[in-house]
Amino acid sequence: MCGIVGFTGDQQAAPILLEGLSKLEYRGYDSAGLAVRDNEAEVEIVKAKGRLSVLEEKTNGGQTLTGTCGIGHTRWATHGEPSEGNAHPHHSDDCTVVAVHNGIIENYQELKDKLVRKGYQFYSETDTEVAVKLIDYYYKKYLGTPVDAINHAMVRIRGSYALAAMFEEYPGEIYAARKDSPMILGIQDGESYLASDVPAILKYTRNVYYIGNMEIGKLEKGKVTFYNLDGDEVEKELTEIQWDAEAAEKTGFEHFMIKEIHEQPKAVSDTLHSVVKDGKIDLSGVGLSEEDIKGISQIYIVACGSAYHVGVAAQYVIEDLAKIPVRVELASEFRYRGPLLDKDGLVIIISQSGETADSLAALREAKAKGVKTLGIVNVVGSSIAREADNVFYTLAGPEIAVATTKAYSTQLIACYALAVQFARIREAIDGEGYTRLIEELGTLPEKIGKIIEDKERIQWFAAKQAAAKDIFFIGRGIDYAISLEGSLKMKEISYIHSEAYAAGELKHGTISLIEDGTLVVGVLTQQGLFEKTISNMVECKSRGAYLMGLTTYGNYNIEDTADFVVYVPKTDVHFAVSLAVIPLQLMAYYVSLAKGLDVDKPRNLAKSVTVE
Ligand code: AGP
Repeated sequence: MCGIVGFTGDQQAAPILLEGLSKLEYRGYDSAGLAVRDNEAEVEIVKAKGRLSVLEEKTNGGQTLTGTCGIGHTRWATHGEPSEGNAHPHHSDDCTVVAVHNGIIENYQELKDKLVRKGYQFYSETDTEVAVKLIDYYYKKYLGTPVDAINHAMVRIRGSYALAAMFEEYPGEIYAARKDSPMILGIQDGESYLASDVPAILKYTRNVYYIGNMEIGKLEKGKVTFYNLDGDEVEKELTEIQWDAEAAEKTGFEHFMIKEIHEQPKAVSDTLHSVVKDGKIDLSGVGLSEEDIKGISQIYIVACGSAYHVGVAAQYVIEDLAKIPVRVELASEFRYRGPLLDKDGLVIIISQSGETADSLAALREAKAKGVKTLGIVNVVGSSIAREADNVFYTLAGPEIAVATTKAYSTQLIACYALAVQFARIREAIDGEGYTRLIEELGTLPEKIGKIIEDKERIQWFAAKQAAAKDIFFIGRGIDYAISLEGSLKMKEISYIHSEAYAAGELKHGTISLIEDGTLVVGVLTQQGLFEKTISNMVECKSRGAYLMGLTTYGNYNIEDTADFVVYVPKTDVHFAVSLAVIPLQLMAYYVSLAKGLDVDKPRNLAKSVTVE
């Protein structure tokens, strides 16, 4: 996810663009850039790697750039390392077209190959440069207007984009195009603004247009004209923004965590579609060849916290589907245990930040032993991403809340994709099973969205738990992996003591802690273990526990046992974690809210533990 801004009016553009970008840093902060021009002057482009402050210093707060029309960008790298060369704005070879982009061009390689055949050269690794040169190609080929050129490009591009472009022959004008990625356009006192999100322009105007998918907005001073894909003008109503500045940074959500919970369908879809092409999984971008996959003797998954819980779930899925032995290890243990690793093994390090000290040390330990390594990482160019032999990037975008949600869900989907592809390559599943599993993966984003839509019922139940002293999450198999994450979410943001337990293990001691009213959450998504876990829940109930059941629609007989039940849509048993974890994320969030705690920045915790 990146942030884009644009301005055209009578004021100097650069300071306004920088101010806007400063409100979008939560959307991306590994590099930034501006492109500014005056009516006849050449466009001037300045970029900088690192936080926005580096660009501010480089341009002396925008003072070194003169011009009343410009665009700006702050980047969250998806294609290509964070660097000045990959930073936006990107431009055509002769600077006829200059643009910034937020989104993912899924078919950028195919388009890049086409443009290379047409004589284009590329200076960056980004999908955005491809989009800019595609627009330039159509602009020169058809000698039409910028609207014509962008329309031709939109027809060819697959993916998501919020794009703002300037054309040399159209001074004072900015052309905006959108598909799926957020963008708003605003006007005030003879000036026009563009941004990924409300906070970037709220200081200047509350009068905004919401540009629709596959629409183009032409910004002139104080005026915006909209066009559809046929190039016909479309009328738009101005909307007045009611938000305050602080609320707007969370795009109307009260906290980053609830915002990121809502972003999970798109994050999961983006991550899945980064490796699923035409109904098949393609790991070439990850760097694992079929020969590599066939040669894996043992998998070691090493991580911390929630990322470790992904590993626990992935162990069941990979072993069951791909029939490869999997060990899951806490990074802080792995690094000091002197692990015995098989030389033909694969060590998978899962890390949102890519900077967790224990996970990075575990990676280095594995590499020192000469074992192939794969990082599943959310931050492009992070230490683990750079040092692992192979990388599977999750496309969750910046995750601000300390308690991970969307990054966790994208790590899961990455592991499922690996499991299904490994299973197919090693012929542990047939073509029909392969296709069925990939189709089912494709249904997860919508199913996650449906669960989030029912959040009020979970909020009602969660608010009643604010005074709880102990909460237990129990389950068997994959349901135990779900319990681990549910318990950690609850602990870290509500400060209520909680434990996750393999349901069959409770009676070996811990059940002594169950008292009248102790909340026990039974997770029951694995049909074959349903009755077993129910009996464990009954053991708790007979000692006074209050039972919440978490299961799939259809298992209505649970109502005979549980006092409160949450249902999630059915899916393949291997993928159940992706659905069952959502109510548990919401429950933890609403309990913390009910207790009036700092949901996004819980006490004692950091977003990335870069120390031992
Ligand atoms: C989970 O909500 C926490 N934020 C924490 O457990 C986190 O998952 C862990 O510190 C690992 O972080 P990483 O994914 O950045 O390596």
